[in-house]
Amino acid sequence: MSSFIPRPNLDLIDLLLGEHASILTLFRYYENTLATLDLAGLRAAGAVLEAVLMAHAIDEDGLLFEALPAGERGVHETLSAMCGEHNELRHLLEDLPGIEDVTRARGQLRRVVELAREHFAVEERILFGLARRVLPQETLSTLGGEYARRRGLSALA
Ligand SMILES: [Fe+2]
Repeated sequence: MSSFIPRPNLDLIDLLLGEHASILTLFRYYENTLATLDLAGLRAAGAVLEAVLMAHAIDEDGLLFEALPAGERGVHETLSAMCGEHNELRHLLEDLPGIEDVTRARGQLRRVVELAREHFAVEERILFGLARRVLPQETLSTLGGEYARRRGLSALA
């Protein structure tokens, strides 16, 4: 039997990209099933998306955004846009349980998925490259270890 060999050089960007990949899988599932869900199903889907998107946003804000030097060219503008979108997603998800109309609730959930998809794409195109450019590899690896610890990935923490 082979044992798992950890790769301690996985850094925070690698790990956040992996998380994007799994959340995108969830988006595809909900995009294919939203039309069949009733109000209770839509609320349950919203609760799942809230759990994964807010955990993602909290760790991104607390680990990556905090580490980026605000004075560096492009950092402030990029972070403001990303934080604004995290807040918009939070509000859309928080409002969902109070929506009584099934069509409106479905539309709200579709908006969450669309906005989060666009948000992920910008992070992958701009933010993650920026982070690799301005932060030393050692810092990204240390932050990756902290992310792993928070998520319970014992092999990397
Ligand atoms: Fe984000």
